[in-house]
Amino acid sequence: MIKVDISQVQNFVSANDVKSLEPEVKEAILKLEKGTGAGNDFIGWMDLASKTPASLLDEIEDTARVLRENCEVVIVAGIGGSYLGSRAVIEALGNSLSQLIQDKKNPQILFAGHNISEDYLFELTEYLKTKKFGIINISKSGTTTETALAFRLLKKQCEDQRGKDTARKVIVAITDAKRGAARVCADKEGYRSFIIPDNVGGRFSVLTPVGLLPIAIAGFDIRQLVKGAADMEALTTSSAKIEDNPAATYAAVRNALYRSGKKIEILVNFQPKLHYLSEWWKQLYGESEGKENKGIFPASVDFSTDLHSMGQWIQEGERTIFETVISVDKVQHSVLVPRDEENLDGLNFLAGKHVDEVNKMAELGTQLAHVDGGVPNIRITVPELSEYWIGQLIYMFEKGCGISGYVLGVNPFNQPGVEAYKKNMFALLGKPGYEEDSKKILSRLKK
Ligand code: PA5
Repeated sequence: MIKVDISQVQNFVSANDVKSLEPEVKEAILKLEKGTGAGNDFIGWMDLASKTPASLLDEIEDTARVLRENCEVVIVAGIGGSYLGSRAVIEALGNSLSQLIQDKKNPQILFAGHNISEDYLFELTEYLKTKKFGIINISKSGTTTETALAFRLLKKQCEDQRGKDTARKVIVAITDAKRGAARVCADKEGYRSFIIPDNVGGRFSVLTPVGLLPIAIAGFDIRQLVKGAADMEALTTSSAKIEDNPAATYAAVRNALYRSGKKIEILVNFQPKLHYLSEWWKQLYGESEGKENKGIFPASVDFSTDLHSMGQWIQEGERTIFETVISVDKVQHSVLVPRDEENLDGLNFLAGKHVDEVNKMAELGTQLAHVDGGVPNIRITVPELSEYWIGQLIYMFEKGCGISGYVLGVNPFNQPGVEAYKKNMFALLGKPGYEEDSKKILSRLKK
């Protein structure tokens, strides 16, 4: 089971404070189930896992097979919800050094279209010059500048290097059924394509082809991932007691902490493989809750690495934070600390122990120190980093986010604030249709 331990928040909010949120949490779950809350046209993620047709999984696996057979490298072009989910899962399940090691069995998965850095694109396209590569172009709107720009470059390079026919075989589009430039291009070029359902927003789309195709190409079992999510779906319905529902418990306790003045949540891991899971989580909660001048600020650290940089702030800085630790029970590999006759480093007291035992004591020691220092601690325990448990964790966070957003009193499924920078960027770059904005900005910049 994935467990949410809230015993270490009780110096800060009482069990009664958390319990008093139960009616709001129950109402939020019912709103999600009945589709009566704000943003109810974007709750398709709720039963996506339990309803994924076997035919869709077959089609994804078939497409993955074609790319696996024909590519040494596959570039996932996408930004925000269109790349963070697959990156989170691939990194959590893969070899920590996968960026360095060319695995003979699986194509290397690299990401593009999530920045507008000329150096990044230069270095990536240089690297690809000697590689047989394919592309997955992912954009729900089909018009996102970062992704479209990277895809334009990569498509041309792929066609130049591999010829139009092979390029057609190794370029896949995942986009809207009808709208957007990515759809137009896919239909015109005859690419294989998958649809992002209308009622699933980008940040909730990891269990659609958006996440599943790259994950399958990387060599992971998407059926187990979906099964894990479907099992968590069953555990988090309105018929479960709040204390047995990890998503509801998490949503309740983080809102209780927020109301007590804890405005920043730091997601903590002790496994560097979870770095991108935190990035995915930050988008999920940040974009869902940060609106109407409300919302917990989602931050993240990788421990014990960041104990040597951010540890001081967390221990003694402003007391507006709480931590949520993802603790992994069982690691994948075994490394024992060797005995050393000379013991020059003084580490013989650890000889014969697993490195993970040391890590677990770092985890416990940190929890005790931070709680003593005024930082409430939520602990989410995951049995191991496998497809099944990551699927459960993903769904738990998604459901927790929907519940938490409603308890906070916002529409967790829109993102009106994301448009503001785009309007200015387009006006500054002279995109047709932005002439009026352009005039306003230029006169503002002159002042
Ligand atoms: O969650 C969201 O809606 C956003 O983060 C989008 O995923 C992101 O902006 C990318 O959009 P698109 O898939 O339309 O290119």
